[in-house]
Amino acid sequence: MNSTYVLPDAPASLPPSAEASVTETPLQIAQRLAITFNHVLPDRPAIARTEVPPLLTMPDKRTLTTSIRATVQVFSDPQSLALLERIRMVAPSDANVLVIGETGTGKELVARHVHNLSARKDGPFVAVNCGAFSESLVESELFGHEKGAFTGAFCAKPGWFEAANGGTLFLDEIGDLPLSMQVKLLRVLQEREIVRLGSRRSIPIDVRVLAATNVHLQDAVAAGHFREDLFYRLNVVHLAVPTLRDRPGDILPLARYFIEEYRNRLGYGPVDIEPRAERKLLEHSWPGNIRELENVIHYALLVCRSDSLGEGDLQMSSFGIHAARRAASEPVASTPLEGLEGALRHLFDRAEGNLFEQIEDTVMRVAFDFCNRNQIQAARLLGISRNVLRARLIRAKQISAQK
Ligand SMILES: Nc1ncnc2c1ncn2[C@@H]1O[C@H](COP(=O)(O)OP(=O)(O)OP(=O)(O)O)[C@@H](O)[C@H]1O
Ligand SMILES: [Mg+2]
Repeated sequence: MNSTYVLPDAPASLPPSAEASVTETPLQIAQRLAITFNHVLPDRPAIARTEVPPLLTMPDKRTLTTSIRATVQVFSDPQSLALLERIRMVAPSDANVLVIGETGTGKELVARHVHNLSARKDGPFVAVNCGAFSESLVESELFGHEKGAFTGAFCAKPGWFEAANGGTLFLDEIGDLPLSMQVKLLRVLQEREIVRLGSRRSIPIDVRVLAATNVHLQDAVAAGHFREDLFYRLNVVHLAVPTLRDRPGDILPLARYFIEEYRNRLGYGPVDIEPRAERKLLEHSWPGNIRELENVIHYALLVCRSDSLGEGDLQMSSFGIHAARRAASEPVASTPLEGLEGALRHLFDRAEGNLFEQIEDTVMRVAFDFCNRNQIQAARLLGISRNVLRARLIRAKQISAQK
């Protein structure tokens, strides 16, 4: 099947204020959480409603953000259709899901889709970026706190788990969660209850947890930065979101979708894409994935002087090309010498003149510094004569030519 699936997004079961935004300050988050409680959870105990009045009202997110929050999802490439099928299979269960993918591949969109296809679709979907809080704040953000729990806790405040009760909690950038908090999260997932900071009373919660990461969590586990037991708890279902370069069949359907969205926003008439521009879109490696494509199309519409996007209207970054080529062709360095080889390949990519001399000077200079600027030791370290070392250090202006 090669048709484009256009899925209506679920009707907003929450006001936009119920969703955590990556760029918010803790104060804004606290304010929005207060609003969430006042608008979304009318049956919850009166604590939040009486003690935390709504401090501000947020306009619709669509009018605030420059990026359009997709109201439809485009799935056209066979890889995306396979992912869609997998989402359909796993969504109805209550299993925790780990969504893995590079930045901008649509991990949050996938998480929302899992929620929308689950029995919890009428409950809240709460998205929290674990990297957005300091270590001291993250506990009260996730689990809430009682009045007086810490300096500045002037009133009781429910956390994200309570806000997501009956629905889904999406923990974005889970790899950024401090180790101390990982233990507590594990306990909550096991016990299905939370204890607010400063309280002894446990509150039962009914939340499905979806987590996302753009790093290889297994590597973080191996390096001791992420708890293995928590990894297995979260990774009951594993959804890998492919990069845009690995699903080229989505590029043009997505481009057309973004053209429609942005031209409507900008009040333009119908806009087409020239065949050369299509080719340029298909040939790019898209290191920023769908978000990059969205930005490229938005910009192209702003600068386009006709009713058809041309090659020249598409401004793509070039830094991803070599990175993508390297990622595809080179294994990750496992020894320092392999790392050096990788670094050399980067330099060869740029192909500036005089390269050998620059590399040689760098080797001498680094060895010289490493040996606390002792020439005899540095020469011994490199296995060369002191005279050769001296000559190179003079050339690199590290020492003076005069004795
Ligand atoms: N299948 C899709 N159809 C339409 N738009 C999409 C699709 N997937 C992603 N997008 C859009 O691309 C942008 C990036 O998606 P999203 O925020 O879900 O990515 P992400 O993987 O969570 O990114 P990050 O790693 O930076 O948090 C959003 O504007 C989203 O609406
Ligand atoms: Mg995200």
